[in-house]
Amino acid sequence: MSITAIKGMNDILPGDVETWQFLEAKAREVFGAYGFSEVRTPVIEKTELFCRSIGETTDIVEKEMYSFNDKSDNSLTLRPEGTAPVMRSFIQRKLHTLDPVSKFYYMGPMFRYERPQKGRYRQFHQIGAEVLGVEDPKIDAQVLAMLHHYFCEIGIEAVSLQVNSLGCPECRPAYRQQLNDYLQQRLEQLCSDCQRRYQTNPLRVLDCKVPGCRQATLDAPAVIDHLCGGCDAHFSAVKKYLQALKIPFEINLRMVRGLDYYVRTTFELVTDQLGSQNAVAAGGRYDGLVESLGGPPLPGIGFAIGVERLVLMKGADRIVPATPDLFIAALGEAAADQAFVLMSKLQRSGIRAEMDYLGKSLKAQMRRANKLAAAYTLILGEDELRSGQAQLKKMADSSQQTVALDTLDDTLKDRLTGC
Ligand code: HAM
Repeated sequence: MSITAIKGMNDILPGDVETWQFLEAKAREVFGAYGFSEVRTPVIEKTELFCRSIGETTDIVEKEMYSFNDKSDNSLTLRPEGTAPVMRSFIQRKLHTLDPVSKFYYMGPMFRYERPQKGRYRQFHQIGAEVLGVEDPKIDAQVLAMLHHYFCEIGIEAVSLQVNSLGCPECRPAYRQQLNDYLQQRLEQLCSDCQRRYQTNPLRVLDCKVPGCRQATLDAPAVIDHLCGGCDAHFSAVKKYLQALKIPFEINLRMVRGLDYYVRTTFELVTDQLGSQNAVAAGGRYDGLVESLGGPPLPGIGFAIGVERLVLMKGADRIVPATPDLFIAALGEAAADQAFVLMSKLQRSGIRAEMDYLGKSLKAQMRRANKLAAAYTLILGEDELRSGQAQLKKMADSSQQTVALDTLDDTLKDRLTGC
């Protein structure tokens, strides 16, 4: 039996890859305009990094990590997300000494052992961005404005921005206790996961999709009603700046996020086009994270976009693969040798040129030119080689023009650019 890919891991093939390249190029362009620079970290890190940052009691750390021991018995993990590795790198390379404000973006594969379904995979890709060193709520709004701008640029509009505040280590414990007391009254109505979460991570109960849990917690206390003065002022300012920048948003009191490092502002971009995997991007503030990982006490905020979900949303609006500018059909071996040299010269000057390598008849070569949707064809036979001229045929309207072979690159460039 032939070997297949690992369940939940996809190949990204021509036809799709052009959309990926478009989404990645736009991210570089938009994020670059906001002063973000790319960082590339290894896909494997020490397991401890994720346990300490994402949180021991989160779904990711409890059951979704691809962890293994290497030959020296070190526990390593394929990164389930990009924030923790960027923080590790930031601290280890002392990047705060270069600039008090750091803005990074990254793109690449992440790994989570989840149950695969549409929009949820075991290897998936994120495009993420992180800002370190700024507590000012303007940066929260700026990061959201950049995310909004990116979605406009890639032509995906069917998303809504949901924001919430999760408070901070000062105000969250009292809220957590209140939520705990509230949940205790309703324990028997909660699903078995939530009965367990209620002890370890009660905020996650608010986020549970099980209808019974939703119903039972309809009037649960909301974090934003229990914020301390600092968090309340911060959240008000974020909303004010978002309004000033005309970024539409909704408050979602139930959004608590699945990673433990968040404080204050959290957000998700959600869509109703992807069934239950409705978050296309998500993020928030993580002010204590750098310090908890052994770095300086610097605040941080960022997001990650799920690229597979973007590609699904692009649907029929995908980027069409580039087709050849020219197909050279050759008659006979001598002409094929000349066609080969001519084709190589054209390719070096940036023209997408193609020819036949299989010794096909002229008719079969023309069929292939049609199949490849070449814009122009050129037939090279002995006469053409002798005269140094050939007929250039425009496939769209079958019009023909006599062209000189030694200046074909310039002629084609003019015609392709409409000059
Ligand atoms: P996250 O919410 O775990 O956050 O993931 C961000 C996005 O990655 C999700 O909204 C979704 O689009 C995509 N995603 C997650 N899991 C999968 C999967 N199994 N298959 C396909 N797509 C998936 C984070 O990862 C944080 N590091 C975001 C962040 C950056 N917060 C601050 N900075």
